[in-house]
Amino acid sequence: MTCKLLVLISGNGSNLQALIDACASGQLNADIVGVISNVPDAFGLERAKRVGIPTAVVDHKTYASRADFDAALLQRMQQFDADLVVLAGFMRILSAELVAAYAGRMLNIHPSLLPLYPGLHTHQRALDAGDAEHGCTIHFVTADLDGGPLIAQSRCPVLADDTAQTLASRVHPLEHALYQQVIAWYAAGRLRYANGQAVLDQHPLEQPVQL
Ligand code: GAR
Repeated sequence: MTCKLLVLISGNGSNLQALIDACASGQLNADIVGVISNVPDAFGLERAKRVGIPTAVVDHKTYASRADFDAALLQRMQQFDADLVVLAGFMRILSAELVAAYAGRMLNIHPSLLPLYPGLHTHQRALDAGDAEHGCTIHFVTADLDGGPLIAQSRCPVLADDTAQTLASRVHPLEHALYQQVIAWYAAGRLRYANGQAVLDQHPLEQPVQL
């Protein structure tokens, strides 16, 4: 059975585009059944619309409280009846209730080698720390911000003349390839979440897989 993906975005949607392309080419045995953005003019919505993927906007600015926004978002998410929720540049913190509704069925990609640099400005923070390496991480989403069980990472060198922009542009293609691989594992039934850990091919992952 084809794995039904619901992708949540807030912006450009280059990760979404990579997934659209991978599904269309048959490289990834999955279907994107919907895209939700909390930002009404996120470019990722256009990417979805031009290939006929249903989209929805749940604009956080129109809700009085975080709880109201999360309740509306959860209701909209459930209408898509997805197998897996993919956070792809979705820049809102989700409540424990919403996360619990998708326990073990929600992935996030983060532009750092977690547990380094949860939160924002990850590329600049890697530069400021003088790190020799940087990269991206995919993890199962829990109520801890960027803190759920790690699944896989890709890394790249930090160069002497790097800026946050050049570093971001080196990490982005890594993100696209990494998401495709991890979702393929999930879609094939090889990856799951059990007892607070990521499990790949029956082995609990003590360390993220390095790809
Ligand atoms: C990506 O770099 C993703 O890792 C990051 O937002 C960017 C979205 O790019 N996500 C986070 O920082 C989440 N904490 P995209 O819209 O082009 O896919």
